[in-house]
Formats: sequence, C-alpha cells, structure tokens
Amino acid sequence: MIKLNINGKTYQVDVGPEVPLLWVIREHLKLTGTKFGCGIGMCGSCTVHIDGEAARSCQTPVGTAAGKKITTIEGLPVTHPVIRAWIREQVPQCGYCQSGQIMQAVALLAGDPRPSDEKIASVMEGNLCRCGTYPRIKTAIKAAVKEGKQP
Ligand code: FES
Ligand code: FES
Repeated sequence: MIKLNINGKTYQVDVGPEVPLLWVIREHLKLTGTKFGCGIGMCGSCTVHIDGEAARSCQTPVGTAAGKKITTIEGLPVTHPVIRAWIREQVPQCGYCQSGQIMQAVALLAGDPRPSDEKIASVMEGNLCRCGTYPRIKTAIKAAVKEGKQP
C-alpha cells in the first residue's frame, strides 16, 4: 500500500512503487483533470505539483511521491488568480493541455510573482499546445501577475 496526500486528502493505493503517479491519479483515484499526453515527459499535459514544484506525473514513480504534498488541478481554488485570468482571457481552445498549462503557470508565479517575459517563455516552453494558445497563455499569466498576490 502506498499512502498519498493529494489536494489535502489522504489516499491509500494498492500499486507498486514504480507505477507512474499519473496512472494512479487518473485510473485509481479518478482525478481525471490531469491529462495523459505523451507519456514520456515531453508535453506537460500531466503536470501536477509535488511539494509546490511542477512535476511531470507521467515520469514520477508513485513511490517517490509518497509522503509529499501533491496538488492536481482539482486542488486549485476556482478563485485562484491564474484560473480567473485564464477564464477572462479565454485561453483554452480544445482544452486538453490546459490543466497542465495552468499547473505550470501557478508553480511559476509561486516561485517568481513578477517573472520577466523571458522567464515566462522559458518556464512555459515545455508545455505543448496543439491548438496554439501560446499567446493567450502569456497574456493570462501577465494578467494574473497584475492581479497581485498569488495564494
Ligand atoms: S504526458 Fe507527461 S509530459 Fe506528456
Ligand atoms: S487547447 Fe488544445 S491542445 Fe492546448
């Protein structure tokens, strides 16, 4: 049994420690906001936070996440400035990549509340969007920065 703390709740899962965290989150716990894209750490759609840092859950063996604080998109308040900015700027198109984009952006602003354009570009470049919403993602991040303090 592996004990996980996800979005402030404790879960026990009967899986081997090498199983990817993404699989456990989606298939065992049915937290399906986190998406499977590439499965090889190349697209960012599976991004969650582990102890506040953005992490690719497809590349994270669940055993290494035990005892840490995991946050998925379901754990963000809908009033979060980044989510509000995403809605205002109407960022999503098909939406598939967007939970990963938001989780990456939230981690970025938690570590650097006023990032430069270059920093935004470099931190976000690993999150791919087949719909090409990149300009709106950047606009929304800057709008969230303007809104001030991140939770
Ligand atoms: S599904 Fe994890 S990085 Fe693509
Ligand atoms: S909104 Fe469609 S893949 Fe990003």
